[in-house]
Amino acid sequence: MLNKRVLLGISGGIAAYKIAFLIRLLKKSGADVKVVMTPSAVDFISPLVLSTLSGNPVNIEFWNKSTGQWTNHVELALWADVLVIAPLTANTLSKMSNGACDNLLIAVYLSAKSPILVAPAMDLDMYAHFTTKYNLELLASNNVKIIPAENGELASGLSGEGRMAEPETIFNAILECVHLNQQFKTFEHKKVLVTAGPTYESIDPVRFIGNRSSGKMGFAIAEEFLNRGAHVNLITGPTNLSLSHPNLELTRIQTAQELDAEVKKVWHSMQIGVFAAAVADYRPDSIASEKIKKHDEEMTIRFIKNPDVLAWAGASKEDDQLIVGFALETQNLLENGKAKLLKKNADLIVLNSINDEGAGFESETNKISILDKDNKLSTFELKSKTLVAKDIVNYIANYSK
Ligand code: CTP
Repeated sequence: MLNKRVLLGISGGIAAYKIAFLIRLLKKSGADVKVVMTPSAVDFISPLVLSTLSGNPVNIEFWNKSTGQWTNHVELALWADVLVIAPLTANTLSKMSNGACDNLLIAVYLSAKSPILVAPAMDLDMYAHFTTKYNLELLASNNVKIIPAENGELASGLSGEGRMAEPETIFNAILECVHLNQQFKTFEHKKVLVTAGPTYESIDPVRFIGNRSSGKMGFAIAEEFLNRGAHVNLITGPTNLSLSHPNLELTRIQTAQELDAEVKKVWHSMQIGVFAAAVADYRPDSIASEKIKKHDEEMTIRFIKNPDVLAWAGASKEDDQLIVGFALETQNLLENGKAKLLKKNADLIVLNSINDEGAGFESETNKISILDKDNKLSTFELKSKTLVAKDIVNYIANYSK
């Protein structure tokens, strides 16, 4: 656990006192520990105990009432390699499953990108209640790992299921989760370039020629690489999407020429390039300095060729660099895809046909096939773009092994 960053969220239950032991186990194993408490958790264990053991100030409020300083919940959430909420009370559980953000812990949870573990602790009837079961199932189905409560004596004097798992059990669950996550982080220390979105090519100060790309596919790929430990340079054309992550450098461009210039600045230091941008192949040969006024019945704009960014990257590719291109076609998908792969010296081409229902530019979903240099074709089902991004990144992970 050396230097692994564990963020402990404590909600207001009697088992909170046991977290002192958990912090000692974590610190002994070399982990960095920070604590976030709900206001009612403070009634069960003193923040002084927790800050002393963890070696970090404890975070409780959205802002410090004596200094007016705001606690940056996003920064805290992104700091964590793992977020552990223990004890998890019925109240905090219910807020987690509904996104009811009335304290700092829930704000941190809602911003978290790391794996999340929870250790419920409540009286036996509360633990057995259908709402608790329902809420726990909801969290579990959204990838939150539940460390089940144990059987034993409860604070009420009753005995049964509801006792928080012992600190050693929680510690082992954290260890396993961090270990699994490490394996999942195939792209740790890798630098990945992703191009996304459309380009807008100006005609005059108010008009441009563009395309219907939303940028969703490229953003989803960038996010998946970040989840798997990569440092990502995302260069995107105009889109209303945003993404933030400590390992992300996001550059916004308008035109193919700007995209070309930005890619040329960074490509030499990248190991992987995914070219998902829908780049305009041509741009108007001149941009009118004033708004073009209406005159004749017809008007003509002359277009000249834009730089082919992917082809340039392919031509300057080193042996340790991997290139993934995209081909969106309306006909002869496979033939055109094969030709693009060769022409642009890509290693992989993601093919999508605009004729497939639910695939393409303005859709939330996509249906892809991936073609590699050896002409191996892998076909995937219609899925959300987030799941398609996982398929693409998984494919790259296996391909580069
Ligand atoms: N691409 C690029 N720069 C361009 C044009 C395309 O980087 N000026 C990249 C796209 O990001 C995509 C791939 O090349 O990964 C294929 O784009 P596409 O427009 O389908 O290919 P073209 O070579 O432009 O071929 P055509 O338009 O004739 O189908």
